[in-house]
Amino acid sequence: MSFTVPFSQPGLQHDPQWYRRAIFYEVMVGAFADSDSDGVGDFQGLIGKLDYLEWLGVDALWLPPFYASPLLDGGYDVADYRSVLPDYGTLDDFRELVTQAHQRNMRIVIDLVVNHTSDQHEWFQQSRTDPHGPYGDYYVWSDTDDLWPDIRIIFSDTEESNWAFDSERRQFYFHRFFSHQPDLNYGNPAVHQEIFDVARYWLDMGVDGFRLDAVPYLYESDEGLGESEPETHDFIRSLRAMMDTDYPGKVLIAEANQRPHEVAEYFGTTEAPECHMAFDFPVMPRVFYALRSQQVASLVDVLSETTEIPHGATWAVFLRNHDELTLEMVSDEERQALYGWYAYDPRMRINEGIRRRLATLLDNSRHELELAKALLLALPGAPFLYYGDEIAMGDNIWLNDRDASRTPMQWTPDRNAGFSTADPGKLYLPVVQSLGYHYSSVNVETALAQSRSFLHFVRQLIHVRRAHPVLGVGDFEMASTPNESVLAFVRTQSSEQCRPGESPQTMLCVFSFAHHPTTATITLGARHAGARLRDVFGGGSFPGVGENAQVTLTMGTQGFYWLAVE
Ligand code: GLC
Repeated sequence: MSFTVPFSQPGLQHDPQWYRRAIFYEVMVGAFADSDSDGVGDFQGLIGKLDYLEWLGVDALWLPPFYASPLLDGGYDVADYRSVLPDYGTLDDFRELVTQAHQRNMRIVIDLVVNHTSDQHEWFQQSRTDPHGPYGDYYVWSDTDDLWPDIRIIFSDTEESNWAFDSERRQFYFHRFFSHQPDLNYGNPAVHQEIFDVARYWLDMGVDGFRLDAVPYLYESDEGLGESEPETHDFIRSLRAMMDTDYPGKVLIAEANQRPHEVAEYFGTTEAPECHMAFDFPVMPRVFYALRSQQVASLVDVLSETTEIPHGATWAVFLRNHDELTLEMVSDEERQALYGWYAYDPRMRINEGIRRRLATLLDNSRHELELAKALLLALPGAPFLYYGDEIAMGDNIWLNDRDASRTPMQWTPDRNAGFSTADPGKLYLPVVQSLGYHYSSVNVETALAQSRSFLHFVRQLIHVRRAHPVLGVGDFEMASTPNESVLAFVRTQSSEQCRPGESPQTMLCVFSFAHHPTTATITLGARHAGARLRDVFGGGSFPGVGENAQVTLTMGTQGFYWLAVE
């Protein structure tokens, strides 16, 4: 497979706000491409696929942890923050990845696991054996396990308590996730220093930013229930200040699975900024809710609630990632409905969520896949794509935990889907062979050969979005319609949001969640009265906006429009 990249520009382009226009792609190093036939993906394999990612139109990669780790939590159990897992290659391979990505003007964002380490980490081993030594206070120790009883358990399927007893130190230690992941003690300034040093280490190696893993949980208290405590925000502010001073242009992305107004707090303020971006957890499950209920009300509510954020900050929007589709941020009623629609087999559930991929969730419906992707790329914020979803890859619910959707990328119909030439039994996880999603038909090579494949659709969508920076940097304004199945909004770019040579754009985006054709009368802001509308895919003219600022559109089943307002 070869990829011609016509617009390739050598070198990283200077743009302090690059993340606002970027398309991100989450790729687990071990899952993408195996260059040395050991059954596990590696940095060299990923380097070999950068042409593909550039062809697709990706601007930045997010790599989940690739550090030394016992791999009991997909690498989020870090045993050494400064070395890479030997299966993935060497530090030099990682450096080469950064260099080669940067040559393509592609950025690399990595995970900074700030809340906890693996119990195999040297700090924890020292802490449990030498309570009075230098690492004695690196973790949260207690003689009893009854502190903060109301702090909720996140991994509710596997953990019974947030405390575990250490037989060596003969004390309990606190853990928000698995019991093999002790929480770091942020009450100890030495821990702040360590994390700053780790951040500097990777920034010096050229990475373009961090996803701050599980960031709400750094501090604990009874009143704050261990989530988004004020001291947690103080810590992020100081990390941001260090980065702004010493590493300008590098970004922080918050993983904070919280209510809308709480997530927004992770941006800080214009004067005292925290993260540049935050994952939009509240929006994501409501997209899935709208797809089945044909009702957009809850999506409209949450979008209206989360639009006020500081200048320069932006949302990280996503449909799926390496975790379960979490349902913590929806109402009980919505959660029950979502389980009924999307997780009818109990094996599909985990904790408070669903462990399936985008294509299987949407039953491989091309209408729904296109609608969901088109919405993702038009929502305020930068879209995060999950590897494999661009070819509508399937999952494997017979695997444990979240491995269901972490199987090898499917490149070709050949052995191991072209991911690896190892003995199939040696792969870190088997390739998907289920009905309808078998790698012999679902793979990049086959999708490339079919001009109307989902892969080509996704690529076109990405390229049209890139040509319309309003969808990255523009303001967001809801447009109203009495049609309960139709979501409409206007994105507007001001001249300050333009790069030199660009002129401001305005875009009306309309999405129908109705399962049949429908028509919607949409009311825009008064200033759009009399505007012309043009479809940005084919260039076709649409009925103009009336003098009453209304337009009536007819839409096919689960159809969508991106219309330039001129
Ligand atoms: C984050 C990661 C998840 C991991 C957890 C604990 O939520 O996304 O994969 O299990 O942190 O580290």
